[in-house]
Amino acid sequence: MTREQVDPLAGYFQLMTWNGISRLYRTACESGILDAVAEGPGSAAVIAERCGTLPGPTSLVLEALCEAGVVRRDEESYGPGPVMALLQGNYHDLGDSYWDHLTNFLQTGEPVIRLQNPHEAQAFYRKQAGELGAMMRPSAALVTRELSIGAERKGLSILDVGAGSGVWSLTMAAVDPSSRVTCLDWPAVLPVAEQFAEQAGVWERLELLPGDYHEIDLGESQYDLVILGNTTHLEDPDGNRSLFRRAHRALQSGGGILVIDVFSHNRAAALTGALYALGLALRTTLGAVYSAQEMTRLLAESGFAEPRFVPIRVPPGVMGMIHALKR
Ligand SMILES: C[S@@+](CC[C@H](N)C(=O)[O-])C[C@H]1O[C@@H](n2cnc3c(N)ncnc32)[C@H](O)[C@@H]1O
Repeated sequence: MTREQVDPLAGYFQLMTWNGISRLYRTACESGILDAVAEGPGSAAVIAERCGTLPGPTSLVLEALCEAGVVRRDEESYGPGPVMALLQGNYHDLGDSYWDHLTNFLQTGEPVIRLQNPHEAQAFYRKQAGELGAMMRPSAALVTRELSIGAERKGLSILDVGAGSGVWSLTMAAVDPSSRVTCLDWPAVLPVAEQFAEQAGVWERLELLPGDYHEIDLGESQYDLVILGNTTHLEDPDGNRSLFRRAHRALQSGGGILVIDVFSHNRAAALTGALYALGLALRTTLGAVYSAQEMTRLLAESGFAEPRFVPIRVPPGVMGMIHALKR
């Protein structure tokens, strides 16, 4: 069989599988099967009784959920799989809250939620920041190692802009007891960073800066490192240039800026990247996925030199970091 004959067949079955998983997950949510599993381990018959479904079909659904990694089977008993810890809050619906808006978006071009609106953004991120932070933990550990924090780089004064949970800066603070962290975010979101800092045992080295990162005074020559983690995709090029210039002023000479985000660099994860770009357009007015080259150019235009791009090779596999210096 030729490659041309095989590929469409493989493509078709892949689409069937993705669609099947999508329908399976939604049905498991709507029928109460996932809630029943979350109550505690039980046989298919027990889970079926908890949610009022038939044992035979429930057993088939549970088996498929096991293969999808959502549920774990131990002998005859079904319990939550590790991924269920991440299927919480805003992430429980796997993005349905904005995917449901796709048809409308094609007609209007309008996003379903405007994350640039402070009121909508605070409500959204207060709910989302903790889970996003949990997802970013492996990436934060990798970035911390990549920058030799706690080894070659010690005692840094770090400003985390649009900090959310503070996962990037607080992971650094945890490996370097001589560092200090300032987390800047909307007032309603900062308690999430406080909670993360308490868990990491770095609470006494955390300062909070509540406000709008486009407006609040960041001071001058105060910090060794300014972090923008998953915030540059919310801004258009002018917004990013303005943020970078403010960061530049806030940094000491020789200090570094660290931009961490989804970049369109990874062909292997191109589908994830394209879906992310579409999802972003469904929930922001200005947001975009940048290439590392575009972001590096915006950094250079804002006074930063010696940019270094490093792909972050942990899931979702589409992120990267750019570290550049104030000279
Ligand atoms: C996608 S989240 C990223 C959170 C965190 N840096 C991370 O990577 O997990 C973007 C964060 O930026 C904050 N944010 C967005 N616009 C802001 C603004 N104008 N002023 C202050 N914070 C803002 C949001 O509240 C949110 O916590």
